[in-house]
Amino acid sequence: MSQALEGVRILDFTHVQSGPTCTQLLAWFGADVIKVERAGEGDATRGQLRDIPGVDSLYFTMLNHNKRSITLDTKNPKGRQVLDELIKTCDVLVENFAPGALDRMGITWEHIQKLNPRMIVASVKGFGPGKYADCKVYENVAQCAGGAASTTGFEDGPPMVTGAQIGDSGTGLHLALGILAALFQRNSTGRGQKVLAPMQDAVLNLCRVKMRDQQRLERTGTMHEYPQYPDGKFGDAVPRAGNASGGGQPGSILKCKGWETDPNAYIYFTVQGHAWAPICDAIGKPEWKTDPDYMTAKARQPHITDIFATIEGWLADKTKFEAVDILRKFDIPCAPVLTMKELLNDESLRKSGSIVEVPHKERGTYFTVGSPIKFSDLKPEITGSPLLGEHTDDVLPDPATGHNPPLIHLSEPPKLLSHSDARLCLK
Ligand code: COA
Repeated sequence: MSQALEGVRILDFTHVQSGPTCTQLLAWFGADVIKVERAGEGDATRGQLRDIPGVDSLYFTMLNHNKRSITLDTKNPKGRQVLDELIKTCDVLVENFAPGALDRMGITWEHIQKLNPRMIVASVKGFGPGKYADCKVYENVAQCAGGAASTTGFEDGPPMVTGAQIGDSGTGLHLALGILAALFQRNSTGRGQKVLAPMQDAVLNLCRVKMRDQQRLERTGTMHEYPQYPDGKFGDAVPRAGNASGGGQPGSILKCKGWETDPNAYIYFTVQGHAWAPICDAIGKPEWKTDPDYMTAKARQPHITDIFATIEGWLADKTKFEAVDILRKFDIPCAPVLTMKELLNDESLRKSGSIVEVPHKERGTYFTVGSPIKFSDLKPEITGSPLLGEHTDDVLPDPATGHNPPLIHLSEPPKLLSHSDARLCLK
């Protein structure tokens, strides 16, 4: 099966999580992603959170599938020369260095434009233009700066960050979308362009419902679906809403059988307005269907907490899986709170390719998250991550072998480097 991005070459200067998420997506969909790393250590995540001594960590491998890796010292003039050749032959340069690092390497937009006016230069930074533009940023910094932390957690607790990596992986997704749009636009303009995805902005985009709520709060002073309503007080900013749904349908996380000892014996339960009658039937409260205190969403809202307490009573003798099996028959939107252990062994996710087992040259096989996007005419095959510099020789092979480098076409070798010089700065 042909791949959607076949023929697209990505010069991948990304590291840690945000940038690698982006280029991994592009690689899954068929782009040739050449990850450029420093000799010796490479991407810092190769060595972070290791579970097997001396072997690339899962942190690294799970973010760098389907890529090739070359080592190159971009601060060495000869390395720069090699890099210039790569710039000429690639479609997109993706980077998430600290602000200014690319310029300090001498790889300015103007320089890139001169070499390859069709090149798209895509960057993740912590912040967009403004007073924080020079700051280095990691995941949780972005979650705090983008509005996620102030709106996550319980009313009586501190701001909370979430386990979903919305700052890093969330921004990587945004950048990938920006790159695809720029590639599409290049078809008509013939020109590359700069694409920037600031982490603060990406988190804010993912928190847009909270900005919706800020404006509602300013207009009305209250929000009925928040746990602060009707007894608690609202301040002047969107408060933390615990596990309240955040949408037009009330919902909450409810205890199931075994919650006293199992920290994940819970389900999420949504009270969808038009499903009120089935809910009453499912939980054995048929009288609520005609009770004026419960019949409408508006009537229910002031005592939604009591309603959830009653449902918890019904759940007390059911495991999360038993409860969900019953509730789904009534078409009630709900889910068990699943652990990573349960997800790793989930049959459907395995079958759909969202969890895949991948071979790795040094660690053996391991599980990773495959493409969460499914196509009818594209099947991303997830391959293991590259070892550090594994493909350096493919990019600039020994001419003695007569093997043509697939990326750098040395049509005029003297203008580039002597082979031995080039290999010195690549290794
Ligand atoms: N050859 C030579 N030098 C290289 C190189 C190579 N192949 N690859 C990287 N370097 C250099 C860079 O040029 C930079 O040098 P400089 O400081 O002299 O300019 C240096 O390595 C370190 O890069 P930097 O990006 O500053 O790494 P860091 O470890 O200090 O910071 C981050 C890490 C993530 C905080 C920072 O990169 C950042 O804020 N990135 C943008 C936001 C982001 O993506 N954050 C989320 C990461 S998941």
